Amino acid sequence: MNEYDSDFLAQSLIQSGLLPVDDPARADLILINTCTVREKPEQKAFSLFGRMARIKRRKPGLILGIVGCLAQQMGEGMIKRFPQIDFVMGPRELDRIQEILEQIYSGRTKIVATGLEAPPPQPTLCRGYFKGRITAFVSIMEGCNNFCSYCIVPYVRGREISRSPEKILIEAGNLIAEGVKEITLLGQNVNSYRWNEGKNVDFVYLLKKLNKLEGLLRLRFTTSHPKDLSDGLIKCFADLDKLCPHIHLPFQAGSNQVLKHMKRGYTREEYMERIAKLRKVRPDIAITSDVMVGFPGESREDFEMTLDLIKRVQFDGLFSFKYSDRKGTLAEKMDRKVGENEKGSRLSMLQVLQKQITLKKNKDLEGKRMDVLIEGYSKREGQLKGRTVTNKIVNLTCNTNKIGSLLNVFIKYGFLNSLQGELT
Ligand code: 5AD
Ligand code: SF4
Repeated sequence: MNEYDSDFLAQSLIQSGLLPVDDPARADLILINTCTVREKPEQKAFSLFGRMARIKRRKPGLILGIVGCLAQQMGEGMIKRFPQIDFVMGPRELDRIQEILEQIYSGRTKIVATGLEAPPPQPTLCRGYFKGRITAFVSIMEGCNNFCSYCIVPYVRGREISRSPEKILIEAGNLIAEGVKEITLLGQNVNSYRWNEGKNVDFVYLLKKLNKLEGLLRLRFTTSHPKDLSDGLIKCFADLDKLCPHIHLPFQAGSNQVLKHMKRGYTREEYMERIAKLRKVRPDIAITSDVMVGFPGESREDFEMTLDLIKRVQFDGLFSFKYSDRKGTLAEKMDRKVGENEKGSRLSMLQVLQKQITLKKNKDLEGKRMDVLIEGYSKREGQLKGRTVTNKIVNLTCNTNKIGSLLNVFIKYGFLNSLQGELT
């Protein structure tokens, strides 16, 4: 979502006549897009502010803006802490960027734009901006109404609001016209997508419409909530030819007691039942998830239940985190906090287990042939990088430039984070 927001801002700025530079020291305007979902990205943002503030001390005319979720959360406090900052803008105010810059050019400074009411803006495509990009995001909804007890998102991105299906289809069509072959629909909770103006449009309806777009090869979405994963949506994985067989379905914890305190709205049994249904309609579906350890009150037994769920489900990949307090959330005020060392040792235990599962899954693909959409150059010298429908990275050597092509590739090796393919 942050990447999408950054692209939105970059396009708005280019359209207002600004040009991108590749070195921050040469810039006249620097925007830092921030995340506050966990403690780590927040710390990363603070250290970046320090570096940018040093550039501004040497170049006082530089305009420095902090945007995104951390800006939303800190508001005025951000400017008090970093007086070099000219403006602060939350994620629901991004389409005011040009107006705010006008105010700054005319001498106003220290602007705080942190409203949460505005509907999601419609990006106006900047011709050529997506040139050479094979994959792109399209936001379909903003915000979240779930208020999981550990999560800051509803406070910094506001309540759920969906974009009109017409706007979504226009944006997707524009991207395809620019050469994009794969679209990932974005939202904090995509499966609560609903558009009620005039007609009753839900997420399944939207997927069916997008699946018909000519020129589009692949369709993905993220992130969905297990409690809203309807049978209708599960069936789409069998019915829609462009919808890739991969779902990112965060489970967060394997103990019913912890899930209840997290206010997730499902039990471990219900989660596993959804997974079984997905695998029934689409046996080759890849499943990835998010999980955290050390939620307040999580006992050793609770943690064992998380390990047990991981063993049972056999995820293709897992993003795992240590719980961190987020200001103003319910969990922040809970007692029975788990110590840092204990959280650290639970996280490593969990990651060791998941690594074995991921590696085994990737090794099982050795000797198989898979369709790979080539996205660009690999980090491995002289190789191209692509993805399977199941979202696994494949590196391969190819003499001709096949970026944007769908190739049938022989999988020679399965590693932990990628597959090595061959064109035979
Ligand atoms: N502490 C740790 N992890 C968190 N996440 C969200 N809030 C917190 C928190 N307070 C994780 C969840 C979520 C992912 C985006 O970040 O696993 O799915
Ligand atoms: Fe946060 Fe829960 Fe909403 Fe996801 S569903 S954004 S974890 S409140």
